[in-house]
Amino acid sequence: MSLLHGLATRALHRLDPEDAHGAAIASLKAGLGPRAGRDDPILATELAGLKLPNPVGLAPGFDKNAEVFAPMLRAGFGFVECGTVTPLPQVGNPRPRLFRLSEDRAVINRMGFNNQGLEPFAARLARRGPGVVGANIGANKDSADRVADYVSCLRRLWGLASYFTINISSPNTPGLRALQTRAALEELLGRLAEARDALPAEGRAPMFLKVAPDLADGEAEAIVETVLGAGLQGIIVSNTTIGRPELRSPFRDETGGLSGAPLQALSTGMLARFSAIADGRLVLIGAGGVDSGQAAYAKLRAGAAAVQLYSALVYEGPGLVARIKRELAQILRAEGFRAVGEAVGAN
Ligand code: FNR
Repeated sequence: MSLLHGLATRALHRLDPEDAHGAAIASLKAGLGPRAGRDDPILATELAGLKLPNPVGLAPGFDKNAEVFAPMLRAGFGFVECGTVTPLPQVGNPRPRLFRLSEDRAVINRMGFNNQGLEPFAARLARRGPGVVGANIGANKDSADRVADYVSCLRRLWGLASYFTINISSPNTPGLRALQTRAALEELLGRLAEARDALPAEGRAPMFLKVAPDLADGEAEAIVETVLGAGLQGIIVSNTTIGRPELRSPFRDETGGLSGAPLQALSTGMLARFSAIADGRLVLIGAGGVDSGQAAYAKLRAGAAAVQLYSALVYEGPGLVARIKRELAQILRAEGFRAVGEAVGAN
């Protein structure tokens, strides 16, 4: 990481976390982000048919309104997922709603899908250049028909996003995670599949389901079957946890989803479970506590074709991506792999 970006990250930590995030977005929009060089060819890979220069993606929540995907691709991410976007603009929960748990290298958030809504999101994606940019779609809090919200997002963004993520795993929209239960998921994915099949074939893009790491016994099996039944391409494991492992920070009892280092083992364990159940029939993406090449490598070995991160960025700034990629390339070579794809599911 450059000295400048290290200093900038430290300065941001003097601000309220949400103000710091706003300042980071503003500086990226102003063109002040880092510029990565060409990626080590060993990192090139494929995700459900999408070509990636490297498997390290930016997780959704950072660029909720699709404002900074281009500078984040330039900063070295292999792909960027924008959102979660909902059909109508939404203010989200009252502040404070974002907490840095510095002692734990963790974050708790209860943002509640604050976003500008579908129209500005779609307009920005329509102007995008090269690079893989996914759209993470959701439902408005007060929607009378949540399934219809997901369908509206899919229709409006068809042909604009490289892939779609159906987010049913945020803990901050009451009742949203109930969409993970079998009957509700069958209805949601069934109606999305119907909408997808009626849309022009040229706009076709992979569709992933994003799940929570807090699933009861049997739920992962039902999710895999339903995802396969609807013809989706894969599953993203995972969103934030409502669990509270041992934490030291004074903010540990705040309501919301926990992410960062304490989520790493839990989400990688859940990823391994999905990998065993899917048995090669689905593409998996690993998210949760990725903060090093080693953590990314562990997710690849557990079955992820690519990884995503957000919380570690809060602590290290965008220079983190270059470090993770350097470490990952070193590990792959040391372990005798010639490409990322060879390590996927190696466990
Ligand atoms: C998130 N995350 C998230 N996920 C999602 O699908 N839609 C969203 O809008 C958000 N918003 C959001 C806001 C904030 C402040 C955080 C910290 C996280 C979850 C995120 O994409 C990721 O799945 C988890 O944070 C786990 O990865 P990390 O943060 O441990 O690398």
